[in-house]
Amino acid sequence: MTSVALLALEEFRLIRELILKYCGVVLGDDQRGYVERRLRDRLALLGISDFRGYYRYLRFDPAGPQEIEDAAESITTHETYFFREDYQLRAFRDEVLSGLYESRKPLRRVAIWSAGCSTGEEPYTLAMMLLEAGIPKDWDVRIFGSDLSRRVIAHARRGLYGPSSFRACPDRYRQQYFRPAPDGCYEVSREVRALCHFGQLNLVDAARVALIGKLDAIFCRNVLIYLEPSAKRAVVDQFFRRLAPGGVLLLGHSESLLSMTTAFEPVVLSSDLVYRRPAQSTESLPALAEDDLSRGGR
Ligand SMILES: C[S@@+](CC[C@H](N)C(=O)[O-])C[C@H]1O[C@@H](n2cnc3c(N)ncnc32)[C@H](O)[C@@H]1O
Repeated sequence: MTSVALLALEEFRLIRELILKYCGVVLGDDQRGYVERRLRDRLALLGISDFRGYYRYLRFDPAGPQEIEDAAESITTHETYFFREDYQLRAFRDEVLSGLYESRKPLRRVAIWSAGCSTGEEPYTLAMMLLEAGIPKDWDVRIFGSDLSRRVIAHARRGLYGPSSFRACPDRYRQQYFRPAPDGCYEVSREVRALCHFGQLNLVDAARVALIGKLDAIFCRNVLIYLEPSAKRAVVDQFFRRLAPGGVLLLGHSESLLSMTTAFEPVVLSSDLVYRRPAQSTESLPALAEDDLSRGGR
């Protein structure tokens, strides 16, 4: 009988420290069983019999940095689907987009970033909504999708989706923007694909994030909830720098910039709250003053 590897508290703490350092994802004590189950497959694949050996591999093997990437991929949640939190997407389309087009007229260019896009349903949903709203002729409109995990980015590039991705997608969109593929899957149409560009990117890697050009809108939904507070703050700081003045940041429904920064202007829409980089603002995000913290920030 083969024995099942158990993750002792000490090794759990060591491994979660590596994950935290690598991508900012924080794991609570109560997640030890979850991590144990998720990483067992990695141990089996590498032929390592226990978690102490796995930790040593992560730390000291030349392939350790690659394995930390794979471990993070196994542990993080990649749940997503088309038209997730669609009230927010509609508010963006109906109440933000026309203003963006208006202000970007001189450049005829709009750039949107879906940061932590998982398998791509979010950027493709944005592309469909932009197409529905009508893209001005001869404009350069681009949607960038990025994620920590190479596997989900490869999936996004393939553009093939099964039924669970369509659980909130109106049939009309599926009929118009997808074509049937084998095994009950659907493939994203060329028209939608043409607007979207994908790449692997770790949001806590400030040097790489700094290489991204100016953006008009950043969607970072259901990502910050997994990050440790200082990583979250650093990521939001990067978002501020990447946004063009007047650009907006949209978070998931359970996320906010509360107690993190007052540099963004909250903009209340009919069914959502988004954060705008003020038109007149300096490049970096001002530190949150003590009294902002005691007031709860915004
Ligand atoms: C729950 S999914 C959210 C997908 C999509 N934004 C949505 O709301 O449906 C969270 C994604 O964040 C990614 N993620 C977590 N930490 C990250 C980091 N440090 N850099 C980039 N992506 C990260 C995970 O790989 C995962 O695919």
